[in-house]
Formats: sequence, C-alpha cells, structure tokens
Amino acid sequence: MKEKKETVVSPSLLSADFSRLEEEVRAAEAGGAAWLHLDVMDGAFVPNISFGAPVIRSLRPRTNLFFDAHLMIREPIRYIGDFVSAGCDLITVHAEACADVKATLEAIRAAGKQAGLSVKPGTPVEGIFGLLPLLSVVLVMTVEPGFSGQKFMPDMLPKIKALEHERQRRSLGYRIEVDGGVSPENAKLLRAAGADVLVAGSAVFGKEDKAAAIAALKG
Ligand code: DX5
Ligand code: ZN
Repeated sequence: MKEKKETVVSPSLLSADFSRLEEEVRAAEAGGAAWLHLDVMDGAFVPNISFGAPVIRSLRPRTNLFFDAHLMIREPIRYIGDFVSAGCDLITVHAEACADVKATLEAIRAAGKQAGLSVKPGTPVEGIFGLLPLLSVVLVMTVEPGFSGQKFMPDMLPKIKALEHERQRRSLGYRIEVDGGVSPENAKLLRAAGADVLVAGSAVFGKEDKAAAIAALKG
C-alpha cells in the first residue's frame, strides 16, 4: 500500500472578506494552507453568483498557493481557456453540468492543467468510475453546492470510501477532495475514509487564528 500523503487543506475563498482578498489569501498561506479553493458560481447551475476568472487572475501574482478552481457553472467547457489563463492549477467541473464530461476534462488536460470532477450529493459516484483515469481529483460534495456555512451530510461518507477502494483496486493516483461543512469534528472521519484534500470555508476564513484552524483540520 502506498504511503499516505499529508492532508491538504484548501480554504474556500467564498467565506473570506471580499473587501480584503489579498490579505485573506496571505493569511491562509501563512497559516499553513497549501491550496486555495476558488468557488465559481453562475446563478444557473447553482442558486448563487460568486466571482469569475478576473478575480482569480488578479490574485494569481499575490500568492504561491495552488489554485484549486471549483466551477459550479453550466457547460464549463466554454470557459476553460479563461480559467487556464487566469492561473488555475486544477480545474474541477461538475458531472451534472456538462453535456460531454469527457471532452471537458480533455480540454483541461490539453491545456496542461490538472482536471477534477465533482458530484453533487444526489449523484451516485459509480457513474464517474469510467472517467477516473483522466482525473487528478474527485471532489465529493458533502452539502448542496451554492453556499458556504451549511451542515455536513454524513451519508456522503460511503462515496469517499468507494473512491478510496477503487483507487487502490485500480492503482490510480487521483486525490479525493471533500467540500461542504468540513470541520475539526468531522475531519478525522473524512481522513480515515480516504479524503486527501479538505475544503474549508467557514472553518478557516471564519476563524481569527488561521494556523490553529488549519492544524485542527489536518489532525
Ligand atoms: C459550496 C462550496 C464550498 C463552500 C464551503 O458550494 O463549493 O466550497 O465554500 O464552505 P463551508 O466549508 O463553510 O461549508
Ligand atoms: Zn467548493
């Protein structure tokens, strides 16, 4: 069995103070985060609008964090070029949002970026098993996408376990990322189930001491 890598914490910018983005991002970096989770919402795939490629582009020269873009937009294939040129390192799209999921993932990979695929709580994870070899990340939603600060759905744990099982069975290298309601209370359970990347909005940006908040998630 492969040695388990250190858990990555990816603070979600959605919970930051939008009037002080640079400061917030630097605080997350100084606190020990390795990734920055960038929630892009279009008001159509999800009932909320957040920010897009121009904001990501402005932040890119201000930090060394790995840019983890979570696109909650319909037909993201239309905008892959924008998010690539804005400086995203990983681009995750939703299985439910793409007419041609494979073509969308291939467009991300052809641009030299890591491709991720996310499933909403109601979407069975087995439906994406055929695409796993194309993926750097599988993002398991543990809330309905759209808003930060929602309650974690524990019944999503079997999806994480199934992805961990499949990864070992087929010797694949994707990371399992979990998003929604992640807290120090459930982080241990998530790590034990196979999660490698923990997204945290309120659990990091909602806290004064970012280093303590991030350390609590890493365990
Ligand atoms: C929800 C977003 C999440 C959200 C997480 O649609 O994808 O990334 O910001 O926020 P918390 O950790 O507060 O649930
Ligand atoms: Zn997200």
